[in-house]
Amino acid sequence: MSSSVAVNHRLIFCSILALIFFFITRTVTATDHIVGANKGWNPGINYTLWANNQTFYVNDFISFRYQKTQYNVFMVNQSGYDNCTTEGALGNWSSGKDFILLNKTKSYYFICGNGQCFNGMKVSILVHPLASPPTAAIAANDSSKDSSAAPMFLQKGFLSFKALVVAVVPIWLGMGWI
Ligand SMILES: *[C@@H]1O[C@H](CO)[C@@H](O)[C@H](O)[C@H]1NC(C)=O
Ligand SMILES: *[C@@H]1O[C@H](CO)[C@@H](O)[C@H](O)[C@H]1NC(C)=O
Ligand SMILES: *[C@@H]1O[C@H](CO)[C@@H](O)[C@H](O)[C@H]1NC(C)=O
Ligand SMILES: *[C@@H]1O[C@H](CO)[C@@H](O)[C@H](O)[C@H]1NC(C)=O
Ligand SMILES: *[C@@H]1O[C@H](CO)[C@@H](O)[C@H](O)[C@H]1NC(C)=O
Ligand SMILES: *[C@@H]1O[C@H](CO)[C@@H](O)[C@H](O)[C@H]1NC(C)=O
Ligand SMILES: *[C@@H]1O[C@H](CO)[C@@H](O)[C@H](O)[C@H]1NC(C)=O
Repeated sequence: MSSSVAVNHRLIFCSILALIFFFITRTVTATDHIVGANKGWNPGINYTLWANNQTFYVNDFISFRYQKTQYNVFMVNQSGYDNCTTEGALGNWSSGKDFILLNKTKSYYFICGNGQCFNGMKVSILVHPLASPPTAAIAANDSSKDSSAAPMFLQKGFLSFKALVVAVVPIWLGMGWI
């Protein structure tokens, strides 16, 4: 077998592997919605515009990136959101890089708890059920939002598939299969 043919086979094999990998990861990834995209969680940003540009599904993540010495995140109900109050908050975070699992189909309300809520540091989102829409439609929507949403590899299915690839590929290579 000439070396150029071998290279060709390797290319085809890698393309197929990449394709399989793409489809498997598509089906088992959750989206991480980074609040404010590259602007993060800061005063003076209209997060309604950001939220309107996203579609949230159950088991997606919302994440807040900010200076932890200056800001924080409180999960509140609608009154808390409307009035910028944290009384009876449902949760609070202050690590500066907080990932929050959206595991219910409902409206979520987040505000900053140090007064900056009045300067726009508030965001409300509606989480949709996973209605198993066609994969192509999700992919199309996802790809149009790459600047503000990054995929996260989370589920065990993905990890075990990766383990399988790691385990099997060297065997194929070793057998001179490609
Ligand atoms: C943010 O944008 C929305 C949609 O255009 C608008 O309705 C809302 O008044 C804006 N909020 C602020 C605080 O400017
Ligand atoms: C807060 O906002 C709600 C509307 O969501 C309103 O009914 C309520 O009177 C406001 N004030 C307080 C102190 O909750
Ligand atoms: C929000 O929580 C506050 C404090 O727990 C409560 O007084 C208020 O009735 C709640 N509002 C809504 C709309 O659930
Ligand atoms: C923040 O959440 C913790 C529990 O996670 C709670 O003990 C604490 O009282 C909360 N802080 C405020 C200011 O609500
Ligand atoms: C969602 O997550 C919270 C905290 O992680 C947990 O207490 C709650 O039971 C979960 N709800 C569902 C429907 O899984
Ligand atoms: C794609 O996004 C559009 C608007 O941004 C929305 O109407 C539609 O339901 C979304 N489709 C899917 C499958 O997420
Ligand atoms: C909405 O998404 C589009 C496409 O990714 C992007 O160009 C635009 O800047 C976004 N708008 C906001 C307000 O985030």
